[in-house]
Amino acid sequence: MLPQGPFAYSTYEKWKFDEPGRGVHSDARRLRDRYVKVMIDLHCHLLPGVDDGAPDLAAALAMARIAVADSIEIVACTPHIYPGMYDNDGPTIRRAVAELRVRLEEADIPLRLTLGADTHIAPDLVAGLRAGWVPTLGDSRYFLLEPPHHVAPPRLAETVFELLTAGYVPVITHPERLSWIEDCYGTFVELARQGAWLQVTAGSLTGRFGKTAQYWGERLLDEGWVHILATDAHGVDRRPPLLAEGRRVAERWLGAGEASHLVVIRPQGILNNVDPERLPAPPALSVDIHSKRRGSWLRRLFGRG
Ligand SMILES: [Fe+2]
Repeated sequence: MLPQGPFAYSTYEKWKFDEPGRGVHSDARRLRDRYVKVMIDLHCHLLPGVDDGAPDLAAALAMARIAVADSIEIVACTPHIYPGMYDNDGPTIRRAVAELRVRLEEADIPLRLTLGADTHIAPDLVAGLRAGWVPTLGDSRYFLLEPPHHVAPPRLAETVFELLTAGYVPVITHPERLSWIEDCYGTFVELARQGAWLQVTAGSLTGRFGKTAQYWGERLLDEGWVHILATDAHGVDRRPPLLAEGRRVAERWLGAGEASHLVVIRPQGILNNVDPERLPAPPALSVDIHSKRRGSWLRRLFGRG
C-alpha cells in the first residue's frame, strides 16, 4: 500500500512499499534509483529571527534559494526549543512557518515547508509532545531530539525508552558532532537497535565540522546505523542548506539506493507518518528482519513481535 499524505509527490509514486516488513518492490527500487532526485531536509534553522539560524527574512529567503538550487524540495523548519535560551513552542513555530510560506510564494521560491523543532532533552518531553508545545516533524510520530553537545546526559537511554513507549520516534540529531561520542558510540548503536533514529549532518561527511565529526559520521554511515541525512543549516555562509554533497558521500559508501533512503524515502515516510517498521531499515538493522523483530525490546515488552 502506498503511503498517502500531504507530502506525496510524483517521483515518490513511481515506486511503492511491498508487504509490511518485506522492503520495497524490486521494480520499484530500480525506478526509485532512476527518478528520485529531489530531496527532503528535515533539520533546518530557516525561520527568521527565532534562534541562532536565519537572522532575518532576507537571510531566510537566501537560504531557501540555496536549498532549491541544491534540489531540496521540502524543508522542515526546526528551530531550537531550549527552555531559557530559545523559548519556541509548537503554536509559535506553526505561525512562523505559515508566514514564511507566504513570503516564499511572494518571492517565487518553489520550496515547500513543514514544521518541527530541534528539541533539547527535557524532563517533560512526552507531556510537551502530547500537548503540542513540542512539534513533531510534519505532525507525525517522529521528532528531532538534540542531546547536549559537550556532556553526555545521564538518562538518555531512559528518556528514549519513555518516548518510544509513548508512541514517538525520537530522531537523535548529529551524534557524530557530539564531543562525547567517542566514549558513547555504543550507546547510540544500542539506541538505534531499540528504535531510535539517527540523523547525521550532511556537512559532517564533507568535513565542514572538522575531521573528528567526519570520522564519526562516516563510521556511523559505513556501519549502517544512519536513518536520515539533514543539513542542520543555520545560514548562507558557514552552515548553508546543502544536502546533495552528503548524498554523494553516502552514494560512495553505501550505493545510490541507500543514499536515496537517507534523503528522500525515509524523510518522506516521516512526513507521511509511516510506521518505522514499514520503511526501509538502515543496513545494520535490515540484515535479518526476522531476528530484528525478535530483538526489539519494545515488541517483546508489548508482545507484538
Ligand atoms: Fe539544529
